[in-house]
Amino acid sequence: MKKSFIVANWKSNKATPEVEAWLKEVKLEAQNTEVKVIICPAYVHLPRLKQAVSEDALRVSLGAQDISPFGPGAYTGEVNGLQIKDFAEYVLIGHSERRTHFKETDEEVLQKIQRAVEVGLTPIFCIQDVSVVADEVKIVAYEPIFAIGTGKPDTPENANAVARKIKEKNKHVEYVLYGGSVTAENIKSFGEMEALSGVLVGKASLDAQEFSLIVKNIS
Ligand code: PGA
Repeated sequence: MKKSFIVANWKSNKATPEVEAWLKEVKLEAQNTEVKVIICPAYVHLPRLKQAVSEDALRVSLGAQDISPFGPGAYTGEVNGLQIKDFAEYVLIGHSERRTHFKETDEEVLQKIQRAVEVGLTPIFCIQDVSVVADEVKIVAYEPIFAIGTGKPDTPENANAVARKIKEKNKHVEYVLYGGSVTAENIKSFGEMEALSGVLVGKASLDAQEFSLIVKNIS
């Protein structure tokens, strides 16, 4: 089986009791070894999830949902790459919600990629169509706007065709994931596409049972 990433993007969801409930319910032990699960919670939950990982209660890797475009310093409210690095290996960059709600520009997104790479974090770079991505980016998530949070995913065939074109245009990209309304029901059809190397899951990752099924059903 080819390597598959399943990335959970919790977005700005879950307070501490809900994280505890999720940890109690989730069952990821049936994982195929070629499946890599990455959980991206809000920053404040990274320490608790790291603890669960180190106690072997959770066999996953961790990611942040964003990163400061700056290093350490006088940037009130920002969380920088070195701070993230204490807890996580990955970071989502360029998500369309950041571009829409926080007016993130291409320039800022590029700075974030550079900050991530500098400290040894692996960026998972989100794009909405076939575009050119920075040389440092090895993992791309194709997330068409119409499919995010709508319950209307792209077809696996189209996502596969887009993934192929992204790789043709960006020879340095090793993995293309698909994101947008992925569920336990449709995961298998995305998992079967040869140019796709996994999925980015928003809403369906919040429910521990559904997320466990997604992990089970991809392999
Ligand atoms: P969704 O979100 O699975 O809720 O559509 C995906 C994403 O925005 O990463």
